[in-house]
Amino acid sequence: MARLKVGVLISGRGSNLQALIEACAAPDFPAEIALVISNQPDAAGLDRAKAAGIAARTISHRDPVFETTLNATLRETGVELVCLAGFMRILGDGFVAAWSDRLINIHPSLLPAFPGLDTHRRALAAGVRISGCTVHFVRPTVDAGPIIIQAAVPVLGDDTERRLAARILAVEHRLYPMTLRLIAEGRVTILGGRVEIARPGEIPPELIYPGG
Ligand code: GRF
Repeated sequence: MARLKVGVLISGRGSNLQALIEACAAPDFPAEIALVISNQPDAAGLDRAKAAGIAARTISHRDPVFETTLNATLRETGVELVCLAGFMRILGDGFVAAWSDRLINIHPSLLPAFPGLDTHRRALAAGVRISGCTVHFVRPTVDAGPIIIQAAVPVLGDDTERRLAARILAVEHRLYPMTLRLIAEGRVTILGGRVEIARPGEIPPELIYPGG
């Protein structure tokens, strides 16, 4: 079976990239990472890619034709799906349109709550009892777009931003590979701006409600 060719865009530490690398290492996983691109030359995630023998390169966002180069590089590599994994640039409408429904992102909140930066600080300030993470298709508006899958994480009384972030990140590392599997298996479709998943009952409930 041909595996779905994935490009991963990063800007930093790349722990979600690592989770995707480890998932793709399983012989029966239906996707493979063809290329990792960072907009930051010193992103630790680039070393993770190289250590796994995956092509990795930097394309600076200061490059005046940044998105054109990004797009061309992904296409030359035969990438079929782009995963944003801690990619800290807002992609322009042209790039988003070019990869429409083939561009996904992971965000550390239960969207549409707390899009953008400082997610955990705002979640704690709002006093929410449950937070989590969301994988969604990318649209021109930041952290909007059809929601594919979410996982819920409790917010505890003595949480700091750091503790909450760590609790959510551990779940992100399971949720993103699961989403990639669902897409690669052809089980994810967008209908009327909402996502339908085929055979949702096969998704382990402990992935979606890990505290429950
Ligand atoms: C994650 O929390 C992700 O949800 C957000 O940026 C962070 C990236 O972390 N978009 P890492 O680089 O994958 O470790």
